[in-house]
Amino acid sequence: MFLTIAFLITAISARATEGMWIPSLISMFYSDMKTNGLKLKAEDIYATNKSSLKDAIVQFDGGCTAEIVSAEGLLLTNHHCGYDAIQKLSSLEKDYLKNGFWAKNRSEELQCPGLYVTFVKEIREVTKEVLAGVKPEMTAAERNALIKKNIAEIEKKSAVTGNIKAKIKPFNNNNQYFMLVTEDFNDIRLVGTPPNAIGKFGGDTDNWVWPRHTGDFSVFRIYANKENKSSEYSAENKAFKPDHFLPISVKPRKEGDFTMVYGFPGRTDQHYCSEKIRFYQDIERPARIAMRTATMDQMKPAMNDNDLVRIKYSAKQASIANAWKKWIGQIGGLKALNAVAKKQQWETEYATKTNSDPQWKARYGNVINDMNTLTKSASKYEFGRAMFTEYFYYGPEFINFCFGFNGLLNNYEKLEKEQKLSKEIDNLKESADAFFKDYDAGLDFKIMKVTTPLYIKYCDPKMLPAGFSENWEKNGENIFKNSLMLNPEKLKNTLSNLTPEAIELLKKDPALVYANELYNGYASSYAQGASEFASEENRLLQLYVEGILTMFPKKKNWADANSTLRIAYGKIEGSAPHDGMSYKHFTTIDGIMQKYDPANPDFELTQRFIDLYNKKDYGTYTQDGKLWVCFTASNHTTGGNSGSPVIDAKGNLLGINFDRSWESTMSDFVFDPSRCRNIVVDARYVLWVIEKYGEAGHLLKEMKLVR
Ligand code: ARG
Ligand code: ASP
Repeated sequence: MFLTIAFLITAISARATEGMWIPSLISMFYSDMKTNGLKLKAEDIYATNKSSLKDAIVQFDGGCTAEIVSAEGLLLTNHHCGYDAIQKLSSLEKDYLKNGFWAKNRSEELQCPGLYVTFVKEIREVTKEVLAGVKPEMTAAERNALIKKNIAEIEKKSAVTGNIKAKIKPFNNNNQYFMLVTEDFNDIRLVGTPPNAIGKFGGDTDNWVWPRHTGDFSVFRIYANKENKSSEYSAENKAFKPDHFLPISVKPRKEGDFTMVYGFPGRTDQHYCSEKIRFYQDIERPARIAMRTATMDQMKPAMNDNDLVRIKYSAKQASIANAWKKWIGQIGGLKALNAVAKKQQWETEYATKTNSDPQWKARYGNVINDMNTLTKSASKYEFGRAMFTEYFYYGPEFINFCFGFNGLLNNYEKLEKEQKLSKEIDNLKESADAFFKDYDAGLDFKIMKVTTPLYIKYCDPKMLPAGFSENWEKNGENIFKNSLMLNPEKLKNTLSNLTPEAIELLKKDPALVYANELYNGYASSYAQGASEFASEENRLLQLYVEGILTMFPKKKNWADANSTLRIAYGKIEGSAPHDGMSYKHFTTIDGIMQKYDPANPDFELTQRFIDLYNKKDYGTYTQDGKLWVCFTASNHTTGGNSGSPVIDAKGNLLGINFDRSWESTMSDFVFDPSRCRNIVVDARYVLWVIEKYGEAGHLLKEMKLVR
C-alpha cells in the first residue's frame, strides 16, 4: 500500500515539467527525461561529432521553428509561420490563402524571396571566458563594458566562414553565456499549404483555445548548391540533403506518452518581481488590449465586406489579434493563479534565505525590495513606451511608413555626395510598393480615428506634441486628403525625379510631419526614462538570479527563453482548468464538422473537405476509427515554439506544435503544471490532408512513416 502511494506520487510529480532546457547541457535533465519515458540516448538528441535530432531542426525565418522530414530537405512548419511567405505569393488570381497550393513536382515549388532557415551546429558554454575579470564590486556600467569587450574578442577569435556564424548570447539574466554556431540557408521554397479553411480553421475565434481543430501546417523545402552548401536562390540548386530527418509516427497515441518539444522559444520572463506581474496584469496589458480592440473593430468588418481588403489585411490582422488575445488569456491566468501573491510568497522565502549568511545578506538582501520599488516608481516609463509602440507601430500604418523616409530626407546631400542616393531611392520605392500593395487608406483613417483618442487618454501629456489633442482630427483629414506620401503614383514620380525642392516639399508633407512630431514627443520625454528603467531592472535581475543560483543550488533552475534552441519535455495529457469540466487530450475530424458554420468566415469549409469527410476515407491514419486532428501535451512552450516538432520517446514526429491553451498563456511568467498545455496538430492529420486533400501523395514517398 505504502509502495503504491509512493509510486503514485512520483508518477504524478513526473508529469508536466516546467522549463526550456539547453540541449548541450543535456546531462542536467537527461535522467529526468528517462524517468518520464524517453528511450533515446543523450547523444541521439544533441551531439556535435555525429548526427542527432538537432540536425533536423531549424529556426524558420528568424522566428518560428521547422523540422526536416525527408532526406530531400522537406520541411514542416505551421501554416501561421509560413503565412507571410504564402501571402506574398498570393494574389486575387492565385489565392493560395483561400485555395491552398500543392506543387505537383519539384519544378512547381515556389521561390520565397527573403525566407531563410537557421541550423544550430554547436552550443558551447563560454561563461568563464566572458566573465573573465568581472568583480562583484564593479558597477553595472563597468561590468557591462568589460563583458562587451570580452564577447567581441571571443567572437572575433571564433569567427567562421561563409554563412556560418558564431554569436555569444547571455542566458539566465546575464549570469551565463553561450556561443551559438549557426548556419543559414537562403533558398527555401513553398511546397504546399492547405487553404485557410484548414490551416487557419477556427481563425481568431479559436486561437489560443482548446478544444482546437486547426490544421496549422505548411510544407517547404530547403535547397542547396551542388556541394549541398547554403546558397542564394538559383535555378541550379538542388534539394538539401540533411544530416538527420525525423521519421513520422502514425502509431496510436495515448495519454501519458512521453513528448519532447525541440525548438526555438522566443522569450519568457520567469524572474519578474511581484510588482512587475501586478503592473502587467492591472495596467499595461489592459491598456494595450484596449488599443488593439479599437483597431480590430475597424478591420474586421472591412475585411468581411471586401475580398481585396481581406487579402491585404489578413496577415496584419492575424498578428495584431494574436498578441491581443494572448494578453487577455494571460491576465485571466495570472489572476486565477494568484500569481502576485505567489510571487510575494517566494520573495519572502528568498529574503529569508539571505539572512542565513552575512555575505548573502550583504549582496542579495535588498534586491527584492529594490526591484519592487523600482517597478512602482518607474514602470510608468515602460508603460509610455508600450503605448507609443501600440500607436506608432500597430496603430495607423501611415505613421511608421512615413517615418521610414527620414533617412533620405535628412541626409539627401550626404547620400548624393557618397553616391548612395539612387540605392536609397530604390529601397524606398520598393518599400512603398510593398506598403501600398497591402494598404487601404480609408480603413487606415478609420483606425486613426479610434486609436488616437485612446493614445491621448493613456499617455502622460508630456509625451504628446504641442497641440496634438486639439488638432489631430483636423490634421488627419488633411493627411488623408492631401498627403503626397499617401498617393502612390505621385510619391513614385517624386522619388523618380528627386530634386532638392521635392525634398523640401516632402519634409513638409502633413503625414510626415505628424509622424515626426509624434516620435519626437515620445523621444524627448519618455524614451530615456524607458531605457534607464530597463537597464536598472536588468541590473537587478542579474543580481537576483545570481542569488537564486548561489543560494538555491538544488532548485531546478532553467534559463529564460531567448530565441535559442531548447528542449521541453512532458506528456500527452488533457487538463481541467475550470471547475466542473475537463478537457480531453485530443480532438477529431468530427469536431470540425460540428464547428462548421458557412456564415462565419472563421469556420468555413471547402466543399472538397466536406466531400472527403462524407466519404470517411481516412486511409491508415485513424485510431479506434477516428481521425485525430489535434492533441495537447504538457510541454513548457512559448512564442517561437510554433512549428516545433513534438517528438516521441524514440525520436519520431508525433505532430507540430502551434499554440497553447488560453488558460496557459501566463506560462511566460509563471508555469502551472496542472493547467499549462501546448497544442499540437497531429502528424496523422497532416499526412491525411497532404495525401487526400492536396493529392500530393508523392511527398509521402519521401518520408519515413513509422507504424
Ligand atoms: N496563437 C498562436 C501563436 O502565438 C497561433 C497564431 C496563429 N493563428 C491565428 N489564428 N492567428 O503564434
Ligand atoms: N503560437 C505560438 C508561436 O507562434 C506558440 C505559443 O505561443 O505557444 O510560436
